[in-house]
Amino acid sequence: MPQLNNQRLLFPEKAVAGYLNGASRAPQLKAVAAAAKHALWWREENAAMSIPAFFKDVELVRQEFAKLINCSDYNRIALVPSTSYGIATTANNMPLSKGQNIIVVEDQFPSNYYTWAKMCTTNGAELRIVARPEPDSSDSWSDRVLAAIDHKTAAVAIAQTHWADGTIFDLKAIRARTNDVDAWLVVDATQSVGAYPTDIAEFQPDVLCAGGYKWLMGPYGCGYAYFGERMDNGSPIEENWINRAGSEDFRNLVNYQDDYRPLAGRYSVGQHSNFIMMPMQLAALQQVNAWGAANIQEYCAGLWSGIAPLLSKAGMELSEVRAQHLVGLKLPAHIDGEQLATEIERSGLSVSYRGDSMRVSPNCYNTPEEMAELAGALIRSKN
Ligand SMILES: Cc1ncc(COP(=O)(O)O)c(C=O)c1O
Repeated sequence: MPQLNNQRLLFPEKAVAGYLNGASRAPQLKAVAAAAKHALWWREENAAMSIPAFFKDVELVRQEFAKLINCSDYNRIALVPSTSYGIATTANNMPLSKGQNIIVVEDQFPSNYYTWAKMCTTNGAELRIVARPEPDSSDSWSDRVLAAIDHKTAAVAIAQTHWADGTIFDLKAIRARTNDVDAWLVVDATQSVGAYPTDIAEFQPDVLCAGGYKWLMGPYGCGYAYFGERMDNGSPIEENWINRAGSEDFRNLVNYQDDYRPLAGRYSVGQHSNFIMMPMQLAALQQVNAWGAANIQEYCAGLWSGIAPLLSKAGMELSEVRAQHLVGLKLPAHIDGEQLATEIERSGLSVSYRGDSMRVSPNCYNTPEEMAELAGALIRSKN
């Protein structure tokens, strides 16, 4: 018996009907919309905000995210507006010399690519892009990343789950190898945390960033970053007032402070105590924590196993080791891509297309019937 039942009723029906595209953005939870409405009302009623209003939800949100990634100290969490902000913050503090290399993988998401590409060019370093192995290859993509690491590697900047095809990288092994050569491990968990277990105690990243509007169910424009010890005394991108020590004492703000708030407190974006978004983020993270990522994997595994016979009728087999919430279905030659797109639309389904793959990203609001519609569309598109 799965731990989690279908959670559709927590969403407006029209937001989730046929929606197999959580990797693009989350449908909005009713609780998140309610939090926003309440926040608007609260804002009207409280023109004169109390000082704790700037800090209370911020602390709670940081605690919820810390819980999600099994981080014992929420002071290691910063509130960032995007993954790219967390990556830029990291790059600003990471030493890189001429002749060193930074490792990324093929088709990595731009927010975890451009910063490194630019940094390598500026510093005369090499950006090493590890290619995706062919489907019949005996070594895994992670094996190839491990093989690419050498004594000149300054960092591996990688995702926990590849955004296009759902490959899960073996972060524990990559951490061990980066430790051997004293390199950083920077993880983009945007396509994993919330839906796939993300335990920083297990793979001990130096930095982990995640956008908040996908598997974390938050509004667009929010994100989270965990910063480990290597970042403890670094420089933030911007010097805002709220990240300085003692900033809750509003009368004393121009008694300028050299010290920042503890640990990652220095890296949060200016105006992060956004009075509308913070309550939405809190409602979202509380729900995601209540679901539990392992339960979401289990729920989605059930959705896939239910259509395995139909997929095989469509000439497609899924690999055993993969994420359940984000699956890149590589379309075999006998499937007509254009017809498939038409069939998918006609069935009222929403998915994404990435190259010659169709990305299907279900969650606990999806039903076996929607998955059967998907398989039906694939079967009808065989030429
Ligand atoms: C792997 C990954 N990282 C990051 C993002 C979003 O990046 P940002 O928060 O910088 O807009 C996406 C969006 O699709 C993604 O798939």
